[in-house]
Amino acid sequence: MENYILDVECLTKSFSRFKVLNNISFKIKSGDFFGLIGPNGAGKSTLLKILYGIVIPDSGSIKIKGLNLLSDYKKIKYSLGVVPQDDNLDDDLGVYENLLIYSMYFGISRTESLKRSNELLNFFDMNEKKYSKVSDLSGGLKRRLMIARALINNPSLIVLDEPTSGLDPEYRQNIWGKLKALNKNGVTILMSTHYMEEAEHLFKNMIILHHGNIVLQGNINDITLNKKSLEDIFLDIAKN
Ligand SMILES: Nc1ncnc2c1ncn2[C@@H]1O[C@H](COP(=O)(O)OP(=O)(O)OP(=O)(O)O)[C@@H](O)[C@H]1O
Ligand SMILES: [Mg+2]
Repeated sequence: MENYILDVECLTKSFSRFKVLNNISFKIKSGDFFGLIGPNGAGKSTLLKILYGIVIPDSGSIKIKGLNLLSDYKKIKYSLGVVPQDDNLDDDLGVYENLLIYSMYFGISRTESLKRSNELLNFFDMNEKKYSKVSDLSGGLKRRLMIARALINNPSLIVLDEPTSGLDPEYRQNIWGKLKALNKNGVTILMSTHYMEEAEHLFKNMIILHHGNIVLQGNINDITLNKKSLEDIFLDIAKN
């Protein structure tokens, strides 16, 4: 039997009478670097917010490691890391404190949390920012801190909503390097992006959403096979 870390079946969500997700089904294997792309308003963030547990779907099922997201969220949160599209760091606190406080949400012991926070600051090259206030960080460093925070509980699956949007190429590539290293170490990644270059560089498998429907899914090499670039495929889809 295939080892799926995430199994989404027939997911539907409407806001008022507007259908934002229409019968979405896909599976992600453990160890995958799985991409989600689609034009503005396609439903990407809504789908990811359902996985974070902050938007409740109208129907469908989501299983993470075989557990049902809606009924077993308390267990699932220990293996899930989330990086939302909008910065939700605590601006009044320092970098280190943001990590330490977040770790309390998982009941991590103080000793473990200090150790883990230091390791993460090290991994994200943020040691010298340890005692800086979050409000003094650049956009790129805030984004790195958000990813670091999402890793505090050693998740096996991380879900990121456009983690590199608005960053300059250097910061973007720095984040690519970190995500690739995490994936190489066995962390499964589900991530959305608007950058086709990023998609081609990172993703192994992906889905393309448009008006709440999956219009294309599969292995990135199969998707781009015999075609122009992913950029052209995307533009063709977005025109319809
Ligand atoms: N809470 C909400 N109430 C009403 N409509 C919403 C809500 N959240 C999202 N929508 C609508 O659902 C649609 C999909 O939004 P969503 O944020 O999921 O798209 P997206 O693919 O993430 O877009 P972007 O690329 O701009 O981030 C949009 O039309 C949006 O206006
Ligand atoms: Mg979005």
